[in-house]
Amino acid sequence: MSDEKIPKITIPYLLAKKRQGEKIVALTAYDFPTAKIVDEAGIEMILVGDSLGMVVLGYKNTIPVTMEEMIHHTRAVARAARRPLIVGDMPYFSFHLSAEETVRNASRFLKEAGAQAVKIEGASKKRLKLIEALIEAEIPVMGHVGLTPQSIYHLGRFKVKGKEIEEAKQILRDAKNLEKAGVFAIVLECVPMELAREITQRVEVPTIGIGAGPHCDGQILVFHDLVGYANGYLPKFVRRYADIHGILDKAVKEYIADVLRGKFPGDSHSYHIKKTDILEKILKESGEKMS
Ligand code: KIV
Repeated sequence: MSDEKIPKITIPYLLAKKRQGEKIVALTAYDFPTAKIVDEAGIEMILVGDSLGMVVLGYKNTIPVTMEEMIHHTRAVARAARRPLIVGDMPYFSFHLSAEETVRNASRFLKEAGAQAVKIEGASKKRLKLIEALIEAEIPVMGHVGLTPQSIYHLGRFKVKGKEIEEAKQILRDAKNLEKAGVFAIVLECVPMELAREITQRVEVPTIGIGAGPHCDGQILVFHDLVGYANGYLPKFVRRYADIHGILDKAVKEYIADVLRGKFPGDSHSYHIKKTDILEKILKESGEKMS
């Protein structure tokens, strides 16, 4: 089917899914081949998460990720993903100085990178005002509460949020405030499933859980965690559906062994000069003898 004939997933469609009690399935993607796999498998929302800093750029957390890196990766995803709604993640310090700069940075995801929405962490009073400014500028926003990885230096380490009463009350308030500010969905990251269920029942926009249990309206995971591409620590909330790291490791080791043993490349991987007399001529004219 040509690209024009593939209907793009829209925000009204996602809102309708919540009303109808249908689950939304989302994944992260950071590059062209992954976005193609994810799209063709039927995923309806792709988040180009700033997790790319840790997953594919090798940073120790998401703080160093820049707008340029986010735009670069979002563009690659948008070239491949025809059907899913593409959400670009606002990196640390792209929305901290002024509403004007926040709107300018967010607009780049839509104008230059091919995303249809942005995600922004947090729900402080100042953050809610920025979200309103984005929506006023026709930029759809997905909220993100619970564990917000860009607060790593405040938190000390990634951990479950909302186990204590005051923290749980704050997360519930945050979710309701985000809805009031106009977000089209809310990511709930690393919160107890009981709290996620109550929030999900109390807001009209879809909740998208990651480490937030089964009662959210949708689920999202980091692609590399799902397929076992990341070889390090795996959070408790991930189910690994493949061992891509193991498959790639085996392939690279076999390649090394084949080259060292002279088993690759073989005849079928090589090009030939069809007529041996041409080779003879080449060597003769180069002053060489046939071996
Ligand atoms: O950056 C990211 O991938 C995210 C998801 C974990 C929700 O924010």
